[in-house]
Amino acid sequence: MTASDDPPLTGPRLDHGPANDADGTRVVRAGLPAEEPYEPPLPGPVFAAHYHLPGEVEGAPYAYGRDANPTWSRLERALAELEAPGDPDAEVIAFSSGMGAISAVLLSQVRPGQTVVLPSDGYNLLAALRERLEGFGVRVRTAPTSGGAQRAELDGASLLWLETPSNPGLDVCDIRELADAAHERGALVAVDNTLATPLGQRPLLLGADISVASGTKALTGHGDVLLGYVATRNAQVAAAARAWRKTVGAIPGPMEAWLAHRSLATLDVRTQRQAGNALAVAEALAARPEVRDVRHPGLPDDPAHPLAARQMSRYGCVVSFTLPDQAYANRFLARLRLVSDATSFGGVRSTAERRGRWGGDAVPDGFVRMSVGVEDSADLVTDIRRALDEAAG
Ligand SMILES: Cc1ncc(COP(=O)(O)O)c(C=O)c1O
Repeated sequence: MTASDDPPLTGPRLDHGPANDADGTRVVRAGLPAEEPYEPPLPGPVFAAHYHLPGEVEGAPYAYGRDANPTWSRLERALAELEAPGDPDAEVIAFSSGMGAISAVLLSQVRPGQTVVLPSDGYNLLAALRERLEGFGVRVRTAPTSGGAQRAELDGASLLWLETPSNPGLDVCDIRELADAAHERGALVAVDNTLATPLGQRPLLLGADISVASGTKALTGHGDVLLGYVATRNAQVAAAARAWRKTVGAIPGPMEAWLAHRSLATLDVRTQRQAGNALAVAEALAARPEVRDVRHPGLPDDPAHPLAARQMSRYGCVVSFTLPDQAYANRFLARLRLVSDATSFGGVRSTAERRGRWGGDAVPDGFVRMSVGVEDSADLVTDIRRALDEAAG
């Protein structure tokens, strides 16, 4: 039997093209250039402050390093494929950090005299941005993430900012419903998609105008890169964010952009494993009498679960819970072997921290935010149970 007589290993492909690929397939090729003989699949980072620029600037894709870079372009293409698969109008602008991206949207979209609605329980640096916006004459209203409370604040607003799930409380809001309500009143809607990643939630497909994220967390996932991005199908928003990046210079380094792109290939396997581990950890914590208020959107009896199940396809790696007091929480954290006491979240190595040590979040003294990594799930649960036993004294 010749090779051509061999039966095919798989059946015929019924759908063709990247828009129909599953996420696990999409991530490994997202943003890669067309294959060229003897070239690498993902070209290395381009380190350039300027590019050869013959003649006039008009139409030049790369002229100066603060404006554009081929390594960013490939990453941005990849992220657009993940945030809005198959949509040629989706654009992504990469930034040096999540705060760079968040600031770019808020400060380029809102003018003095306009009103913006922010979450009262979102990432704690939003409070600093609030102060800055108010200093510029912008009116800021706030509402908690759960219970659809933002709806009541929308009259006269020009931008609604959502963070779902929220950090660190892990509440969830209905993106579709709030986006419809905001659009009826002429307001733009932005969603901080950091915790979910585009494989866990696609705000642009749920009606939001803008998806913003810190790529520092699960997106890059190794705790070694700071990055952010803005994704949108609104050409005016994209142009404004790009112009803002150029003006303030909040640009990603080529090495960071390349590391981020390289990390996308494992985003599906990392986030699936982390979500499974997080659920196992949340269930183990919920079974302990000394642990209160265990929150994880994937826990079947979590108050956010019904809504999360409608708009998220995986529930993220963060679990939050409360121990009896500050000293108890510190004893627990000190006794963990597989979970490092560190801030941030989304990395392959598990971390946890007593969130109250920063100030700024309205959480009890014993509140712990844990980021669950890709370790073996049974090992993690054993370590956490042992640390709880030892913390109890
Ligand atoms: C939900 C959320 N958004 C934005 C940020 C800011 O991201 P970065 O630290 O990359 O500036 C963070 C950081 O923790 C975050 O948790």
